[in-house]
Order: sequence, then structure tokens, then C-alpha cells
Amino acid sequence: MHFCIFAPKLQIFFMEIIKNHKVGVLTSGGDAPGMNAAIRAVTRAGLNNGMEVFGIRRGFQGLIENDMFQMKSQDVSGILQNGGTFLQSTRSTEFKTKEGRKKGYDVLKNYGIDSLVVIGGDGSFTGANIFAQEYSDISVIGIPGTIDNDLYGTDYTIGYDTALNTVIDAVDKIRDTASSFNRIFFVEVMGREAGFIAINSGIASGAEVIMVPERKNQIEKVRKFLKERALKNKSSIIIVAEGLEEGSAMEIADKVKDEYPEFDIKVSVLGHIQRGGRPTSKDRVTASLMGVAAIDAIIDNQKSIMIGWKNEEIVQVPLNKTIKTHKTISDDMLNIAEMIGTFLPK
Ligand code: F6P
Repeated sequence: MHFCIFAPKLQIFFMEIIKNHKVGVLTSGGDAPGMNAAIRAVTRAGLNNGMEVFGIRRGFQGLIENDMFQMKSQDVSGILQNGGTFLQSTRSTEFKTKEGRKKGYDVLKNYGIDSLVVIGGDGSFTGANIFAQEYSDISVIGIPGTIDNDLYGTDYTIGYDTALNTVIDAVDKIRDTASSFNRIFFVEVMGREAGFIAINSGIASGAEVIMVPERKNQIEKVRKFLKERALKNKSSIIIVAEGLEEGSAMEIADKVKDEYPEFDIKVSVLGHIQRGGRPTSKDRVTASLMGVAAIDAIIDNQKSIMIGWKNEEIVQVPLNKTIKTHKTISDDMLNIAEMIGTFLPK
């Protein structure tokens, strides 16, 4: 929050400037646990700085369709602990068009809204960035909200920690049955084209193998590895990042089974359970810090930035940078996983 340290008259003047802001907030793309905490923080920090705050339902599509309401502090009571997003979300195709964005702009102008906080991932930021370029009188502030943790410029995205814990919980349970039967389990985790959920959940659950997009031509090596383990009567967990060039967990498992029909192979696709659930404390706190930082950025007259989290601090990153640069897992991380006994085929 911004505190005025000026003489009383100046203070009133600055309060007036702040008071004029009207802020819209929306969530877009894949929902992520902790988004509610971010909406709550934006709303309360905005109100506490004398702004008017409008909740826009169903992301950019709701904006185009004028589906919004003015929020009071009590509107965001009791939502902090819930997964999903109480404002709801969409992946709007209409907002990808110039006409769609113009409709959204007109709606904002009708309300006198000058600032838009977009909580979402790279798809949402791509739209937000074009919108910010087309309508530079609107201050567009991004808050990274996606379980994938794949946005450049931030070490952390809201929802990632909860999703990781969901995966670990599931893999721990799968391991019980895998080891009881000496089975081979391929477990597919989300992350679109990024392997962050895969590498970190694999490390945290002690997976025998992790397959990430950063490594190529993996199937043959995995086959060999599994054969050696099966000969020793050992069960195995293989974490597979979705979106691998070599196929889904199901396809990879089929290819292994083709060569070794005697192996007892099972596949678990964790799917959308990774997106839900009560946000962890880390997601709630980070989302709250980012929400307040978004309001600070509006007060500072920032036009087109993302609030990020780097080296345990809030940072501001130009919105266009976050989508132009691809964030990949560091080699260090891959080496560490190998050092502690996980097989990462290369
Ligand atoms: O971006 C978040 C994410 O959950 C990805 O990990 C996944 O690939 C995708 O969204 C699934 O999208 P949808 O819920 O639209 O099927």
C-alpha cells in the first residue's frame, strides 16, 4: 500500500488522484488455486487506496459482454480458501479479434475504468499485451496465475504449489499399489509444453524416471531402464509431462508394452484434479502480495507490466517480455534430479 508522507494539503491532492482510478479485475484461461486470493487482494488494496473496483466475470469474454459488477470489501469475503475462481474464467476466441478487443475497450470506457488487472497465464497475457498496445490509455497489469509455472520473468505463478502438492499426494498413493504388485506406472501430469510440474513433482515423490520436454528421443532409453528394473523385480514410477513430442503417457506405455508384453504396466492421467483444491499457504500468500503489488503499479502509473516474483521479491516485468521469451527448466535442476537417483533419459 502507498502511504502519503506529504503535508496535509498535498496529501489530499494525491488522495484525489488515487481516488480517480477505476480498476477492473478478471481471471482468464486455466483457473488456478490462489486466484481468489489475488482477486481479494486487488479488491481490498484498491478500495483501501480510494479506488473503485469492478469484478469482471468470465474473463475477456465477460468483458466483451459487459458482465461485471462493482465490488465492495465483503464481496471478496470467504473466498480465500477456495480453489477455482469465483469470477469464473474463459478462453475467449472473440478477444483474439480486433473487433472483440474494441468491444471490451468500449465497455471499460463506458464505466470510466482506466486500469485492468488480468490474472492468467501466457495465452491471457498475449491477449492483454495486444490490448495494451492498441489502447494505451488503459493501464494493463498482469498477475501470473497458472499451475504450469511457465511464464518468463517470474520464478513462481499462482496455483503451481497447490498443483504440485496434489500430484505428490496422488503419486504417493499410486506408489503404494505399484510396490505391492511390482508394477510399472506411467503418471501423466499437466504443464502444457512445459515440464515444471513434472520435474518438481518427480523429485518430490522420488519417481524413478521423469520425462520432460527438454529431453528428446527418450522412449528407447526408458525401455532399457525399465527392463533392468523389472529383472530385479522392482516397481517403477515414471512421471510423464503432457505435451511430450514422443506422445502421451498412454502412447509411451503402449510402445513399452509392445516390446515387453510381460511387464505389468498401468497408466494414470492425473488430469484436471491438478487444477482444483484448497490453495496452499504459499499460493495464498504469494497471490495476496501480487494483488497488492498490482494496485501499487497502477498508482505508479505503470501501463503494461506483469507482477512477478524473483529471488523472494516482487518485481515488475514488461508484459511483452513475458510472452516473447520461453521459460525452460534449468540444466542445474535436471542435473540435481539425476544426482539424487532419478533417471532422466538423454
Ligand atoms: O494452463 C493450465 C492447464 O491446466 C495446462 O496445464 C493444460 O494443458 C491446460 O490448462 C488444460 O486446459 P483445459 O482446462 O482448457 O483443458
